[in-house]
Amino acid sequence: QTPKLHEVFGQHFRIGAAVNPRTLVSQRELLAQHFNSVTAENEMKFERLHPAEDRYTFEEADRLMEFAKANKMAVRGHTLVWHNQTSDWVFDNGSGGLVDRDTLLARMKAHIETVVGRYKGQIYAWDVVNEAVSDSVEEQLRPSKWLDIIGDDFIAKAFEYAHAADPDALLFYNDYNESVPAKREKIYALVKSLKENGVPIHGVGLQAHWNLTHPTLDDIRAAIDRYASLGLQLHITEMDVSVFAFEDRRTDLTAPTTEMMQLQEERYGEMFQLFREYSDVLTCVTFWGAADDFTWLDGFPVRGRKNWPLLFDTKHQPKGSYYKVISQP
Ligand code: XIL
Repeated sequence: QTPKLHEVFGQHFRIGAAVNPRTLVSQRELLAQHFNSVTAENEMKFERLHPAEDRYTFEEADRLMEFAKANKMAVRGHTLVWHNQTSDWVFDNGSGGLVDRDTLLARMKAHIETVVGRYKGQIYAWDVVNEAVSDSVEEQLRPSKWLDIIGDDFIAKAFEYAHAADPDALLFYNDYNESVPAKREKIYALVKSLKENGVPIHGVGLQAHWNLTHPTLDDIRAAIDRYASLGLQLHITEMDVSVFAFEDRRTDLTAPTTEMMQLQEERYGEMFQLFREYSDVLTCVTFWGAADDFTWLDGFPVRGRKNWPLLFDTKHQPKGSYYKVISQP
């Protein structure tokens, strides 16, 4: 009998997994055993919930909510305002051009009110704005239709609307490359200014799409430390440890090498040791999947390539990485 992740870490932080309609069935048992928080991998994104202005589609999201309820799990909402997976109609003025600022704000507000309102009291934390900071050194915010049409304050507005819709929900700014020093400082500056301007923001989400070599543990520590200094909660929101470095484009592996798995174990071990050091501010660690039979990294960033980034193997058995993680309670 292997210890359950959520029992091992329960008094420190929640342990979550991203799920989708397929894994809610195929990984049902594993999810129910080890995790006490779930996130919809895609089913709560704008395009899925709101494909046309007058039409909302909540079936899959509701199914996830039922699963969570039946298994007494918390739910993290992902995500309200993002440059990806957002329907074209949102930015369209109906005659081939872009909407004006006021109309787009009204649409954003309606979407957030409806979605956050529907799950009020049931979704305890929302990724309100996802990936708004640019990776490039020249600019602070990522160019997007939200930014182009509304301006910098699209971020503050999203938080205000979400807070009005559910005053008890914890509201997060979420991003990737969160541990890269230059981007870390931009995320820090953004969240700091939101806070100083009285915007209702309660946490920073670190996606944590990491690999065997990057980011370094020192950079991860520096990022956690920096965000923690904002006096907000931190969530690890989408953790996985890819067995491939970003530059590695190999496609010939049908199983991970022993060396890869050993490195992954070490990485997971040191990362969880670090998380435990910060567990007064770090309140949830969510993986972007539960077991290696289903991961978005199969095919990303290299098409058709398998990956093995999680704590359980393709048969849902605990990996060496799992044992390293539970040895850091
Ligand atoms: C990914 C999903 O896992 C994929 O299924 C989908 O095709 C694209 O989006 N950052 C995020 C997540 O915030 O929403 C992304 O999820 C992964 C990167």
